[in-house]
Amino acid sequence: MARRKKVYEGKAKILYEGPEPGTLVQYFKDDATAFNAQKKDVIEGKGVLNNRLSEFFMDGLAAIGVPTHFIRRINMREQLIRAVEIIPLEVIVRNRAAGSLAKRLGLEEGTALPRPIVEFCYKDDGLGDPLVTEEHIIAFGWASQQDLDDMIALALRVNDFLSGVMHGVGIKLIDFKIEIGRVWDGDYQRLIVADEISPDSCRLWDVKTGQKLDKDVFRQDLGSLTDAYSEVAKRLGVLPVQATPIKPTLIN
Ligand SMILES: Nc1ncnc2c1ncn2[C@@H]1O[C@H](COP(=O)(O)OP(=O)(O)OP(=O)(O)O)[C@@H](O)[C@H]1O
Ligand SMILES: [Mg+2]
Repeated sequence: MARRKKVYEGKAKILYEGPEPGTLVQYFKDDATAFNAQKKDVIEGKGVLNNRLSEFFMDGLAAIGVPTHFIRRINMREQLIRAVEIIPLEVIVRNRAAGSLAKRLGLEEGTALPRPIVEFCYKDDGLGDPLVTEEHIIAFGWASQQDLDDMIALALRVNDFLSGVMHGVGIKLIDFKIEIGRVWDGDYQRLIVADEISPDSCRLWDVKTGQKLDKDVFRQDLGSLTDAYSEVAKRLGVLPVQATPIKPTLIN
């Protein structure tokens, strides 16, 4: 049997050539990295959870008319996606201060922001994905003004959707990051949500206790990452609450 071709291996995922032109297979690894890969570990089961969770969010987005790269799940760790031209920007939406924003502006983690704030980071591991402004993006040609407007609109729709879904299961969406790609319909380009949406790329806090249910559990050594991600999956109904099969019992 011919071996399929690996297109790219990143920190958390591997891309393989898909069965048809214009498609890719996205494989979710168990590897976890933080602080620009200075901290690394293998977290058993993370890839399986992120594959399912990303499918769940992308399906939900498609249902409300937000275009994404997701086509279908193939198996526990793999999904078929539409190949896109990734715009080399991380698009971050923040509802509350955390992470680098809290540090940069001296805000206490969890402080509500006056409105959702959209930030862009230039995707370059060597530079540590630096924060950039719209001026940089246009001057260096990473995206046009029209792309930027579309990206902001897309990111805010994803924010409304994710915030609502999370609120429904008692989780606060503090912030998240997405990647956006271009697809071509003849001469026309469209922007669609690509990469992944999972607890690796969001900050999620339990509404009642404030407990962190995202990658900060790994960054800050707060306990089991798979437990945190499983909790998110269970609440969303992505994983069965009853993980172990019910034993047959004798009826008298
Ligand atoms: N639909 C898509 N078409 C093409 N490339 C994609 C698509 N979705 C995601 N990607 C790219 O696939 C890679 C996924 O791998 P992973 O997330 O492990 O990368 P990474 O280590 O975070 O590195 P980086 O994102 O900086 O390349 C990313 O480079 C991402 O930009
Ligand atoms: Mg990535």
